[in-house]
Amino acid sequence: MIETSFRLSCTINGEPIERRVPPTRRLLDFIREDIGLTGVKPGCEVGRCGACMVLVDGEPMNACLLMAYQCEGRSIVTIEGVSGSGDNEAAKPHPIQRAIVAEGGLQCGYCTPGIVISLAGLLEQTVSPSREQIEEALSGNLCRCTGYEGIIRAVMRVSSHLDPTS
Ligand code: FES
Ligand code: FES
Repeated sequence: MIETSFRLSCTINGEPIERRVPPTRRLLDFIREDIGLTGVKPGCEVGRCGACMVLVDGEPMNACLLMAYQCEGRSIVTIEGVSGSGDNEAAKPHPIQRAIVAEGGLQCGYCTPGIVISLAGLLEQTVSPSREQIEEALSGNLCRCTGYEGIIRAVMRVSSHLDPTS
């Protein structure tokens, strides 16, 4: 018998998820439509803009290029879950979110969830990334508004341990 759906068992923002998914269900659509987390943005839908970035086992990935069934057993974090951990931390912005606001690193904001995910992934790997590492981390994120300088300053602000809001 041909299997028409896969069993998917994973976590999204720390919550265990158990569903059956068709083999053609993209992770982007699964997260937005089945789970209802719409901070993950559709953009180009072919892996070029980074608006749909999520962390998969801590690594930034394009949700438009992954099938939901490929996430069996994996830990997914979306922009809704990227903040802190522990008591009441989930409601707090991630330091990079506060720093992006402080440095004027957003305008229309459509790219911002994907950029925050890419930079949160970078800062998990490296607490004080070089400008080259920041540019590399942002290489999959298109921003048509800001020119990127405010975003780069925001990473430097966080990695210099400055107050991201001052
Ligand atoms: S929507 Fe996924 S990279 Fe553009
Ligand atoms: S702030 Fe508008 S696309 Fe980046």
